[in-house]
Amino acid sequence: MQNYDIETLAVRAGIARSQFNEHSEALYLTSSFVFDNAAQAAARFQGEEPGNIYSRFTNPTVTAFQERLAAMEGAEACVATASGMSAILATAMALLKAGDHVVSSSGVFGATVQLFSAVLSKFGVETGYVDGSALDSWKAALRPNTRFLYVETPSNPLTEVFDIRALADLAHDAGAVLVVDNCFCSPALQRPIDLGADLVVHSATKYLDGQGRVLGGAILGRRELVMDGIYGFLRTAGPSLSPFNAWVLLKGLETLRIRMEAQSRSALDLARWLEGHPGVRKVYYPGLPSHPQHALAARQQRSGGAVVSFEVKGGREDAWKVVDSTRLISITANLGDTKTTITHPATTTHGRISPEARARAGITEGLLRVAVGLESTADIRADLERGLGR
Ligand SMILES: Cc1ncc(COP(=O)(O)O)c(C=O)c1O
Repeated sequence: MQNYDIETLAVRAGIARSQFNEHSEALYLTSSFVFDNAAQAAARFQGEEPGNIYSRFTNPTVTAFQERLAAMEGAEACVATASGMSAILATAMALLKAGDHVVSSSGVFGATVQLFSAVLSKFGVETGYVDGSALDSWKAALRPNTRFLYVETPSNPLTEVFDIRALADLAHDAGAVLVVDNCFCSPALQRPIDLGADLVVHSATKYLDGQGRVLGGAILGRRELVMDGIYGFLRTAGPSLSPFNAWVLLKGLETLRIRMEAQSRSALDLARWLEGHPGVRKVYYPGLPSHPQHALAARQQRSGGAVVSFEVKGGREDAWKVVDSTRLISITANLGDTKTTITHPATTTHGRISPEARARAGITEGLLRVAVGLESTADIRADLERGLGR
């Protein structure tokens, strides 16, 4: 189905009807599959006959989700995982060995930093962090044993945008691969593989579900990269996606493009309003001309996305006043929901890193992150105005 537009793929790709010819995708809630006889069981286990064996390996509902997401990302192959973190873990376990080196942007999700610095380091893998998107800093961080470059774009929470094509070229010249966490944009707004990325990882928990219901993850890329090492690790180690969650995510994908477009439109509206607000010092949103990588974002993304961060004038007390004055927006750490969410990164998602590291990353005490949902923009503005008004 590669020739259809993404809206069509979102509702049509990956369908394999059962003998009942159901219209909506079937949910195969089963841990194992039955063989006709011993010879068939042996052939399946030997890989001589295709077919399902056990849901840690494959399951038809999970396969449907994988095929749909692969079509939407323009990827040859996709494997689904139990969460976004297990997608990143599986990628690392498959691609790296003791003595290897990773270069990552410093503005990646906190648990990803923990995984690289506290877990992979135990197995002899070192990670170097790059502040900012300047290509020279990335070049300087490379070593002969660098195996992959890792980036989240736009970054969380400061929405810094990285040049995927330039980083892919840099990685390839160094004999490494580029891994992009495409959580903030999703394939509805950005397709890193078209820009040269080797692998895309997802926290499907965010926009792919889009309604805050289930955890999930995925890894996408060239068949040999995904199916040889990564699928092999998942099949053995077991952080597989449950068929129930895969079914929920399949249905989430159907509305992804229209949700992302509507939420991005509202985010731009909110960002413009915040930029003109006397209680706000600075707004971080790639869709604003004032954003340092606005031109790059306009080239690389269909829109600025649905996450807006901003710094209130004052410090923690003023930021918490905005959070505590909300009546509609949810005070919760998740993002990518149809319900707008707000967080104070310095005391939540980034609360466990040192104050110096926080300051280096630009996470000030006045910073707030809003992940815009589907409520009316007027209602979202009014909810923030209550705490911002002086
Ligand atoms: C950018 C990004 N990547 C990865 C993850 C991890 O995903 P999960 O919570 O599904 O394990 C998150 C979760 O918040 C995230 O925001």
